[in-house]
Amino acid sequence: MSLYTLDKIHRLLAGARMEETPFLLLDENRLRENARRFKAAFPGGRIFFSVKANNHPQVLRLFAEEGIDFDVASWGEIEYLAAIGIPAERMIFSAPTKIPRHIEQAYRFGVRVFAFDSALEVEKLARLAPGSLLMARMAVDNEGSFWPLERKFGIQPDEALHLFDTAVKLGLKPYGLTFHVGSQNSDPLAWVRALERLHPLWQTLEQKGSPLACINIGGGFPSQFDQPVPPVDEIAAQILRRWQGWFGKRAQLWVEPGRGLVGEAGIMVTSVINRARRNGQEWLYVDTGVFHGLIEGLEMFHFPYNVLSEKQDETLIPYTLSGPTCDSADVIRSEVLLPASLTLGDRLYIFPAGAYTNSLEQYNGIPFPPVILTGVKAEVSV
Ligand SMILES: Cc1ncc(COP(=O)(O)O)c(C=O)c1O
Repeated sequence: MSLYTLDKIHRLLAGARMEETPFLLLDENRLRENARRFKAAFPGGRIFFSVKANNHPQVLRLFAEEGIDFDVASWGEIEYLAAIGIPAERMIFSAPTKIPRHIEQAYRFGVRVFAFDSALEVEKLARLAPGSLLMARMAVDNEGSFWPLERKFGIQPDEALHLFDTAVKLGLKPYGLTFHVGSQNSDPLAWVRALERLHPLWQTLEQKGSPLACINIGGGFPSQFDQPVPPVDEIAAQILRRWQGWFGKRAQLWVEPGRGLVGEAGIMVTSVINRARRNGQEWLYVDTGVFHGLIEGLEMFHFPYNVLSEKQDETLIPYTLSGPTCDSADVIRSEVLLPASLTLGDRLYIFPAGAYTNSLEQYNGIPFPPVILTGVKAEVSV
């Protein structure tokens, strides 16, 4: 079953009152529903929305109203939240590698929970966020994930023990473990395998008389691209079944979804701006692409977006669906079956597009570096 029917899209568009494409249409009801589903799936748990997935102020406000807290990756993301009145106690800084100035600003603002996965990060935190609560970002297998994160992040249990000891000596407070099973993970057992791996470390710390307070099971909850995916309550049921025996009430359960809360709520509304036949292939160009919202279409990610057209031709043909820029990497999806008669001005709806689309404009809340033009006077000849 498709995530969206044309009928449903028309009803949403009627409420949006926007004619000119491209634009990202977000279904407010679905955002609310997602928030409630996550809360119901993890009773007693705390849900932190990963702001990097969608930083639109209305999205952030809606989640705040629904009792969702926030995972931030930079001072910029804290500023988005502060601007709509979210206090520091509702934020955790889960990026394991942080720009030093951002740690200082976050700490001054009142954020007290920080992740780390290196000795240098512990040293930075001790200096710039003294006395803070530390979450060790653990390495876990990312099997089942469409976009693994395991290479860049995470430490092993013995390293965590060692770094927690160092942290205590530096006046910081070990608080919990955190992990990420990789983005768009469709295997409910991925989280179970990760918890199973962390359980001995949890026990060792308990036996040492320095128990931790919480485990953050991260994000990774999938959206429906071209395949059905397990819903959050199914994944949660698997996790909770094991949680009781391994951690019980001794650990607070934290969850940090990005895509799972926003992905399916978004539809990119685009129009055809050109078509051509090249080397035996049909190319279709629309008015936004991988550099302007649909980055996950890039070959390196290759997320199989769903594409719907207003036309209901009987004949469908394969197209290479491309964005408007002068770059050959600007291909949203290849071999996508669409009506043969598509032409200038026809609308195409691309989804799920609620996650990692608009937020890429200032990803992780980090702006582009400024440009400084300079030269050596003596070398300039007129
Ligand atoms: C630390 C952290 N938490 C949460 C998320 C959200 O992940 P997802 O969108 O897969 O749920 C990410 C994504 O990169 C992340 O880096």
